[in-house]
Amino acid sequence: MSQSNRTPVKRGRQFLHIPGPTMMPDRILRAMDRPAIDHRGPQYAEIADRCYAGVKAVFKTEHPVLISASAGHGAWEAALTNTCSPGDRILMSETGAFSAQWKQMAESFRLEVDYVPGDWRHGVDPAAIEARLAEDKAHAIKAVAIVHNETATGVTSRVAEVRKAIDNADHPALYLVDTISSLGSMDFRMDEWQVDVAIGGSQKGFMLPPGLSFTGVSDKALQAAKTSGTPRHYFDWARMLPDGKTPTFLSTPPTNLIFGLAEALDMLEEEGLDACFERHARLAEATRRAVTGWGLELNASDPGERSNSITAALMPEGHDADVFRSFCLDRYNLALAGGLMNLQGKLIRIGHLGDLNEPMMLGTLATIEAALAATGVPHAAGGINAAIAYLAEADNG
Ligand SMILES: Cc1ncc(COP(=O)(O)O)c(C=O)c1O
Repeated sequence: MSQSNRTPVKRGRQFLHIPGPTMMPDRILRAMDRPAIDHRGPQYAEIADRCYAGVKAVFKTEHPVLISASAGHGAWEAALTNTCSPGDRILMSETGAFSAQWKQMAESFRLEVDYVPGDWRHGVDPAAIEARLAEDKAHAIKAVAIVHNETATGVTSRVAEVRKAIDNADHPALYLVDTISSLGSMDFRMDEWQVDVAIGGSQKGFMLPPGLSFTGVSDKALQAAKTSGTPRHYFDWARMLPDGKTPTFLSTPPTNLIFGLAEALDMLEEEGLDACFERHARLAEATRRAVTGWGLELNASDPGERSNSITAALMPEGHDADVFRSFCLDRYNLALAGGLMNLQGKLIRIGHLGDLNEPMMLGTLATIEAALAATGVPHAAGGINAAIAYLAEADNG
């Protein structure tokens, strides 16, 4: 093959700045790089128990947490099929592509979805939830299901305020929350916010490969599961939690992911959840300063709802975000995410969650600035300087 026909070799690490899977620390990779063990033996039981306890601490719950070999979609499905029966009403809120996909799933289980419309730039409106529930005098709505952090739009919803809205309406609906791209990166308090079903995944803040889902289940949700008439088997909570407290793995567990999870939990504990959330907040703010410094618009309209795990930046009119992303990947080995569904080609999504520090973030932001210049996307130079100044100021003050 002549030199000119060769695919260019890429050196250095790929900077994986999609909002999950995230960059995996060597520690986690090493923890998984060992032979499987007997998953019915005492050694496995010890590691699994440690994982169940650790994930409960991250959810901030005393309720049992189930760990499944599945993508987040599996936990979505488990939440719907265990709590609702065909024909039940469920209240959901249009925040972006993930709320839309969860709604589609609910419809495929023949649930009647009451969908509060949204513009994909705002989070769940607690007042709208309260109003819909207040209208439901017969208490026909079985559950309220929301996405805490809409990974598709970079908008975080106010879970505690939605809880208050449910209480203000004095409505008994179950409260289901998808924390897939917030858990371990942003504060989430299952018990304090009285969430009945909380759903997480391994490939985001836990810094693991995809493949595990986590589901926190309240007593009220377990009670509902006793009467739900939707067929289910693999995700049947009655089988997974036979005594209502102690999770059982009915199929062969993904042993090596569990090794990785134990290591991830050690890492989160060593850092401390508060410090971890603060690190995410700092790197997110540096990213937002860079984006606005370039003169690009943040997709999240309300400053109080801007996500600390992913920032979505709108591309100027006439510039295809996906062409820009391809340039970043091909030329710099920097992977950014793009717009989903209605937002395709319109925005770039910069993931800043997981095992990340300032030099990694600044490297990424500087690379994006270089790519904006190289591809002729109109922008103001110096967004990176705004990010540097912010980080310096954060450590100086
Ligand atoms: C908020 C949110 N919910 C659900 C999902 C679906 O998770 P999975 O792709 O693991 O099924 C994702 C995936 O990125 C997500 O970000």
